[in-house]
Amino acid sequence: MPGRRLVLAYSGGLDTSVAIRWLKDQGWDVVAFTVDLGEKKDLDAIQARALKTGASAAYVADGRLPFLQLFVWPSLQAGAVYEKEYPLATALGRPLIAAMMVEVAGREGAQAIAHGCTGKGNDQVRFDVTTAALAPDLQVVAPVREWGMNRDDEIEYAREHGIEVPATVREPYSTDENLWGRSIEAGVLEDPWTEPPKDVYAWTRDPRSCPDEPTYVEVGFKEGIPISLDGKAAGPLEIVTTLNRVGGENGVGRIDHLENRLIGIKSREIYEAPAAVLLLQAHQALEDITLPKEVARFKDLVGQQWAQMVYDGLWFSPLRDALYAFVAETQRHVTGDVRLKLYRGSSHVVGRKGPQQLYQHALATYGKGDQFDQSAAAGFIKLWGMGVRTATQVQGQLHDRDLGKLLGDVKRLTP
Ligand code: ARG
Repeated sequence: MPGRRLVLAYSGGLDTSVAIRWLKDQGWDVVAFTVDLGEKKDLDAIQARALKTGASAAYVADGRLPFLQLFVWPSLQAGAVYEKEYPLATALGRPLIAAMMVEVAGREGAQAIAHGCTGKGNDQVRFDVTTAALAPDLQVVAPVREWGMNRDDEIEYAREHGIEVPATVREPYSTDENLWGRSIEAGVLEDPWTEPPKDVYAWTRDPRSCPDEPTYVEVGFKEGIPISLDGKAAGPLEIVTTLNRVGGENGVGRIDHLENRLIGIKSREIYEAPAAVLLLQAHQALEDITLPKEVARFKDLVGQQWAQMVYDGLWFSPLRDALYAFVAETQRHVTGDVRLKLYRGSSHVVGRKGPQQLYQHALATYGKGDQFDQSAAAGFIKLWGMGVRTATQVQGQLHDRDLGKLLGDVKRLTP
């Protein structure tokens, strides 16, 4: 069918290289699209390979700053960690890539976008739903869901069609990376009883070969967004790349997650996310000292909801707008500095302060300058405990409380 054009998310790997050719054979004019999210790839080589493999045009976009500012920072403010483990690097990258592709599809007059995701993963959902949200009329084509080829078939297909087989084919794992983290799965990791071998890690050092002395870093935040490192103003890219490096050198940011995919499958993924782990930890510490108790507790739930929303491909949804309205409101006083201590695979918050912190020394201190009215406590507690006292008086003992047993053998001494 002539005049059919689509925009393919092109990584330069085997799947999407084979996809260019396969889509062409299906009658599509293929425009390749590659986004730099900080994965240090040779983008010129990828662009050249796209054209060589049969794309009629090949785009390369720099998505690093929008990724951090529009996707990562709001998620950091929300405190988004999926299932208490995963800072969502891959999940945050997909809606940005898809949104950019929708834009390119408009410019190129394309009828569809295409991606190389399998039918078993989360990433297909993120591409498909983003497209549906932003351009409901665009079709989504996912060759890997259709062609029924396994890896060996694909290599064979590539050889038959003179497609250069990318070097990544020899890698023992499937990986994805961007500035917010690196995701590693498949190979021996598919056995959840197997400890990740050393070759899984590329960003983080084994704790045994980390520096002997701890490293300190100080992160400054304004309204929940990082703005400085060690007291010096720094932009998003500098902050994240520096923390990835420094964290990695100290072995911080390794995560082994047995996760629940949206598609009802459990899977095991390893993550390396030094900057994400450090920033989430620092941001949490600043919230601890600046957020009122009730806000902090409710915000925890919102953060979990945010994480699930991102994981499940609903970045572009009314839910995010609604959740962000809440998150933004909570961040007004989340300004200040956090000091972290990194040492052999661990990181600890060792200092936090903010100009509008709710921690008040005069109230908390047991030392000089105590302004707390101790006598007020008795009346407060009398009312606080009223319900429990009443229950015991009216209904008797609430639980089986054989206090004699609890006491056991005691030593009693008299003069
Ligand atoms: N499980 C992660 C997610 O759904 C990462 C997916 C991509 N992982 C990979 N190794 N290619 O967000």
